[in-house]
Amino acid sequence: MRTEGGVGAETRPSERSAGGWALEVELAGLRLANPTVLASGVLGTSASLLARAASSGAGAVTTKTLTLHPRRGNPNPVVVELDTGLLNSMGLPNPGLEPFLPEIRAYRSSGLRSPLIGSIWALNSEEASTMASMIQEAGANAVELNVSCPNASKDELDTIGSEQLVRELVEAVRRSVSVPVFVKLPPLHWGLTKLAGAAVDAGADVLVATNALRGMAIDVRARRPILSGITGGLSGRALKPVALRAVYELYGEFGDEIQVVGVGGVQDWRDAVEYLLAGASAVEIGTALIYRGLSVFRRVASGIEGYLREEGFHSVEEIVGAARRG
Ligand code: FUM
Repeated sequence: MRTEGGVGAETRPSERSAGGWALEVELAGLRLANPTVLASGVLGTSASLLARAASSGAGAVTTKTLTLHPRRGNPNPVVVELDTGLLNSMGLPNPGLEPFLPEIRAYRSSGLRSPLIGSIWALNSEEASTMASMIQEAGANAVELNVSCPNASKDELDTIGSEQLVRELVEAVRRSVSVPVFVKLPPLHWGLTKLAGAAVDAGADVLVATNALRGMAIDVRARRPILSGITGGLSGRALKPVALRAVYELYGEFGDEIQVVGVGGVQDWRDAVEYLLAGASAVEIGTALIYRGLSVFRRVASGIEGYLREEGFHSVEEIVGAARRG
């Protein structure tokens, strides 16, 4: 099924600066004023927070991952700050999709132009289909199917290494919506392109690489794991080289068919440019918001523009995947 592409409100004349360096990018038909995207998880828990991210310069915004039914998430402690990043074992806390839909409607009626990506996590095809239809109906401009939550147990959803399950989930979403379908992948080393291939075959429009990497931390005095969930997802600086490699591999394998979005440890323009050169068409920013605040979106975007100017490029598209072309 083809996607609706340019959602009316988001399509606008190119935002080319006086010098001729355009930051605007097209992602599966959506127009983004610049290639920065609020990642799922950090601020996407209400319309007002999504709006703050958009007003602060995010080219698109993603909701916190939603499930069909409410989830309390794990008990505290669920976050550990490390010198290399952040470990979280949130456990997908959210009110459930239905109670969240007014937040999506409120964001869409705010007039903000940054497209809204609704992140969902579904246990099976039926749930995936129901949730995707509901979220599109509420006004989401794209659906991001999360098949990689590091805090979901294998008993709940065993997508890692299960191409068949990923194929079924993506097919169910694809059949149910006309907006673009993003698929958020795990930071696998072996098997990543197989899992991504299943998503591409099933009709995904964008691959998002990657979700957090499962890790742990131990309290040496208490002599036990710090997180209540024992393990958690590692995001931030430590994830960047891993996710960058994933983007590079995915772009090499699927770059002719599908766009890739990079996520993991983007703190400044250099990180973002590395992802673009590896093959990402945009970058999601999450953990850096905790340390650098909302100004990170504008700072990264203007840094990318400075890089384009200094290197003699006139659009973001020109540098996407350039590290593969040499
Ligand atoms: O546990 C969580 O809420 C994290 C979700 C994710 O990283 O996908």
